[in-house]
Amino acid sequence: WTLLVFWAAAGYLLGSVPFGLVITRVFGLGDLRAIGSGNIGATNVLRTGSKSAAAATLILDSGKGAAAVLLARGLAGEDAAQIAGLCAFLGHCFPVWLRFQGGKGVATFLGTLLALAWPVGLAACATWLATAAIARISSLSALVAAVLSPLWAALLGRGETVALAAALAVVVLWRHRENIARMRAGTEPRIGRRRGG
Ligand code: G3P
Repeated sequence: WTLLVFWAAAGYLLGSVPFGLVITRVFGLGDLRAIGSGNIGATNVLRTGSKSAAAATLILDSGKGAAAVLLARGLAGEDAAQIAGLCAFLGHCFPVWLRFQGGKGVATFLGTLLALAWPVGLAACATWLATAAIARISSLSALVAAVLSPLWAALLGRGETVALAAALAVVVLWRHRENIARMRAGTEPRIGRRRGG
């Protein structure tokens, strides 16, 4: 138990590093919270106009989820890996440093899934890309990828990942409530535009 609590805390701390804010500051792109949706994720970093900053945010935000899982797995086994992945994701969404007002979890969700069960992670990434290619709306792509991920886990024979994927999907849905409202109102911005609602 002590070990699992340790990996929960380590995962949370790693996940709570807001790379979107760090990167935009390092790149001198202004206050991310005052741009577009105000979110700290890669989609909103892209709205600053810097593709490289957005790519760096995507890699680091997904990488911290993957790193939490791989570190915990390597040092303490599969249960620790699941807990660390879950807590890294929660750390991104609810970081103590930002008074628990963090991101929407999509990149960290994908990185965590890729490290936990790579076929499921790949299927989720493919779902995101396919939806984005059709609809060109980042939040919609995230919602479709998140909601389908437990199904992918079941279909790909990764039963041990179904519950975790479902739990992450519920949080991703919750974190996108404003995006869902904008989609219903027809005002959700499409990928590639600088300004968002
Ligand atoms: O990764 C977050 C994305 O799904 C939505 O971001 O900035 O459009 O709210 P944003």
